[in-house]
Amino acid sequence: MVVKILTLGLAALALPVAHAVPEFTNHGTLNGWPKPKPEAQGTVDEVTNVVFRGGTALKMTQTYIPGYQDRYHSEVVYDKGYKRGQTKFYGFAFRLSEKWQFDPPQNYNLAQWIADFNDVKPCPTCQKCDDWSPTSMVFVVGRKLYTRVKTGTLVSGKPCDQHIKEIPLLDGLVGDKWYRMTFEVMWKSDETGKFRVWVDKNIVYNKTNIATTLLDDGRDISFRVGLYANGWHDDNHTMAGTQGFRQVWYDEIGIGSELKDADPDVL
Ligand SMILES: *[C@@H]1O[C@H](CO)[C@@H](O)[C@H](O)[C@H]1NC(C)=O
Ligand SMILES: *[C@@H]1O[C@H](CO)[C@@H](O)[C@H](O)[C@H]1NC(C)=O
Repeated sequence: MVVKILTLGLAALALPVAHAVPEFTNHGTLNGWPKPKPEAQGTVDEVTNVVFRGGTALKMTQTYIPGYQDRYHSEVVYDKGYKRGQTKFYGFAFRLSEKWQFDPPQNYNLAQWIADFNDVKPCPTCQKCDDWSPTSMVFVVGRKLYTRVKTGTLVSGKPCDQHIKEIPLLDGLVGDKWYRMTFEVMWKSDETGKFRVWVDKNIVYNKTNIATTLLDDGRDISFRVGLYANGWHDDNHTMAGTQGFRQVWYDEIGIGSELKDADPDVL
């Protein structure tokens, strides 16, 4: 018995020096994701002429279609982004096109955590806020970069009990520049979560003891990177400005349990 306890003790001591394997790493390739299904005239391609590091990057595009009423996603999807209660690090590098039109501002989403709740049947007096419900998102509006957290309940009495807090991360975005983003999130629906964001290695948001996700049924919420031109849908199907063709590049995407698993510089 004494021997057994001693062995267990040594095993526990040995754990911290063991190398944790990142949960997911993608060096800007189509390989490693389910085949992308861009909407409308969107594209998702692997390219070699514009990269952050290594030989490849992903290039996403979307094209505005006058009169089109549906959405504009061009994303790659990692299904097991998180379940409520988990803590993970996420990272990626992105680059807006050298000709990106920042003014007039409109909302373009660059990454998101989202799940399909179509199967959830609320009670007769309850309501569900969304079928597909994005929780956190990462988006640009003009030259500003934002993220957000969504809290509250998935199913509630009326009206829908969800709250979105937008978090400004950076101002002065430019085209033709790679930005490196890292997130550390403890996904909690009560006030015990944490949400940290680094942009280009600088910590730009750091909050603990906050709610960071919906009180859902604990299902898998996917993590997606890619261009989702949501303003074109949400703003009455109209496009601000004159740039109806939008291009964003992504590279060095990582998910794991440590900062280095999600640091685009070391992936
Ligand atoms: C974030 O804030 C906490 C609490 O103030 C602090 O302990 C921690 O070191 C900060 N983290 C970073 C990366 O700055
Ligand atoms: C959207 O269209 C509706 C109906 O035509 C109009 O009342 C509303 O002001 C428009 N909103 C925007 C943001 O253009």
